[in-house]
Amino acid sequence: MDRPLSLCIAVSAALFLGACSPPTAPATAASAALPAAPVAAPSGERMTYVVGCVHCHHQLPKQIMNAPSLAIAQTYSLPEFRTLLRTGVTRDGRDLYATESAMGFTAREQLSYLKEEEVAAIHRFLRESWTAERVAAEEAKIPQMPGLPPAAGG
Ligand code: HEC
Repeated sequence: MDRPLSLCIAVSAALFLGACSPPTAPATAASAALPAAPVAAPSGERMTYVVGCVHCHHQLPKQIMNAPSLAIAQTYSLPEFRTLLRTGVTRDGRDLYATESAMGFTAREQLSYLKEEEVAAIHRFLRESWTAERVAAEEAKIPQMPGLPPAAGG
């Protein structure tokens, strides 16, 4: 009886260890791989659309929002741009919050939450890619928006 029992224990132990070790190995490998996974840099293009810059600046009739073309951002240095997005103060010192502009409210209440690298990504995208063709393509959408009279996109 002794031998079969010890054999049984040995076999059980081997099976147990055998059963336990495979899940352990991949889990360790997976958790070891996590820190090495590259953190994607924020996409300036994606942020510019998701945060609403394009909508206010190019997809609404001028009589609703009266926002200038986003091409104006190309006149901003990165520090000036950061100040505008965080505080609503323009590069020429106008406080858009104090003047009750939608840009001032949006800057203080929403855009001030952007991370530094997100601000830089938006700035870079607008400087490098916000072409006249891109502006025309966005503004061509205005007359097609539901509920707007065709003339409103002018
Ligand atoms: C809720 C609408 C709204 C959103 C969202 C918005 N803007 Fe504006 N923005 C405006 C309006 C309106 C003005 C015009 C302010 C004025 O001159 O009174 C403006 C002005 C500006 C100006 C020009 C400031 C100057 O020097 O006169 C820049 C640059 C600008 N916005 C960039 C951005 C960027 C970049 C984003 C996104 C991160 C953004 N805006 C999001 C409405 C918006």
